[in-house]
Amino acid sequence: MNAGATKQHLSRWTSAVWNVIGAVNIRAKILGIVLGLVALMGVAATIEVRLLLEQTLTNQTYERSVAVARDVAARATDLVLMRDYYELFRLLRDTQANNPDLRYAFVIDSDGTIIAHTFGSGFPVGLRDANTVTAHEHHRSVLLTTDEGDVWDTAVPIFDGRAGIARVGLSLVAREQTIAAVTGQLLITTIMAAAMGITAAALLTWILTRPILQLVELAKAVANGDFSQRARRWANDEIGALTDAFNTMSEALAQVERERAEREQMRSQYVTQIITAQEEERKRIARELHDSTSQALTSLLVGLRSLADRHRSPELKQQVEDLRGIVGHVLNDLHTLARQLRPSVLDDLGLAAAIQRYVADCRTRSGLTIDLAMPGLNNERLDSALETALYRIVQEALTNVIRHAHATTASVVIERRTDRVRAIIEDDGCGFDPASLSGDGHLGLNGIRERAALLNGHLIIESAPGHGTTLYVEFPLPAPPEERYEQHSVGR
Ligand SMILES: Nc1ncnc2c1ncn2[C@@H]1O[C@H](COP(=O)(O)OP(=O)(O)OP(=O)(O)O)[C@@H](O)[C@H]1O
Ligand SMILES: [Mg+2]
Repeated sequence: MNAGATKQHLSRWTSAVWNVIGAVNIRAKILGIVLGLVALMGVAATIEVRLLLEQTLTNQTYERSVAVARDVAARATDLVLMRDYYELFRLLRDTQANNPDLRYAFVIDSDGTIIAHTFGSGFPVGLRDANTVTAHEHHRSVLLTTDEGDVWDTAVPIFDGRAGIARVGLSLVAREQTIAAVTGQLLITTIMAAAMGITAAALLTWILTRPILQLVELAKAVANGDFSQRARRWANDEIGALTDAFNTMSEALAQVERERAEREQMRSQYVTQIITAQEEERKRIARELHDSTSQALTSLLVGLRSLADRHRSPELKQQVEDLRGIVGHVLNDLHTLARQLRPSVLDDLGLAAAIQRYVADCRTRSGLTIDLAMPGLNNERLDSALETALYRIVQEALTNVIRHAHATTASVVIERRTDRVRAIIEDDGCGFDPASLSGDGHLGLNGIRERAALLNGHLIIESAPGHGTTLYVEFPLPAPPEERYEQHSVGR
């Protein structure tokens, strides 16, 4: 269980780190890796070189201090025994002149008295006792820490200790300076390597991210439905393969889109043909009813009247009158039917007049209160296909209100603006859930949608059970000629 908890903790930690690293862009990642590596290697190399140098230089100074001290001891033997202190002093001075890093040299006689030294004024207190050597020792060295840096102090017995001790101190200041100089050089090299690394990384990320960014842009274009663009193949590597795959995908999508557009065009042609054929058929039947059936019934009316005139029997007259009444009703019904099929007023007087008459018919037929407003429509004619579509839409919408809504009031608004025309048909009836509509068996609302789409319009249904229904249908209108001319002249 403990192992499981550790694993969970680790994975949470890993995902937290990845969340941070994953959020930065590729350029920052590569630059970060390069800079991190260069800095790490620079610092590691500097530390290692410093340690090595420090050790080597310390050893070297130590060996030289032993050598110089032994040399002084050897050459001082006679001078000490002969008590030639002046020569002894000169020996120390010469030794100092020959070794620039020699801080001091002095000789102690067998009684422990300092008989010669290189300190101009006073001899530093405590230096004499800081190091010593016994007679049978070869030498003894200690590292002294002074105000002016570390010193390798070496004591060598003179004449096996019988003539005293020779002491020299070699300064390690030069070692510090060398280490500082080498460190500085290494830092400069690190900075230069970092600069070169950044340049190389920037170039690499540019090479890497350029095609990727291009692919991102193209993917956005594809998401917006533009399948025409193709990515340029930059190199023969994995990104090149990705580019090829992307282009193949775009091509396939473009092909699918072309086929879809073709199918859509065929479908809309088909629907247009059906609607046109339906309108033509309705027109033909309406004309037939008017020209032939109505004429025949009117002749029948006239015939019945002359029959009544020719006979005196009141009973027969009454029967003929009844028959005339029936024929009159049938004639009225026929007129209403013919108007509904194809109101000639739509062709002759336009949409506003046709809608007014249709709404009036509906009021009479259903007893509903129907408000009608047509702002901006006046008596101007619209495109005939658009007028037919709007008429049929209002017709279907009001038929639905009468058939399904159980409403008390309805309203029809047809609003014409410069660039669009909108029909709003509203009722305060029972409402319904538009999402639950299936295509089967319900041709009315689907027909409205189809008609709208054919003329680049669209339908919005707002309805909910118990809250009435509102249909919005909107069609774009072509720009008026003056406006087109203005745009044209501006373009030039
Ligand atoms: N104004 C409305 N109020 C309430 N319900 C409505 C209204 N308009 C449509 N509906 C509901 O939506 C359904 C679909 O209407 P649609 O006009 O598409 O088909 P339909 O009227 O049933 O048949 P038809 O194909 O003869 O028009 C209707 O059956 C009805 O339930
Ligand atoms: Mg309907």
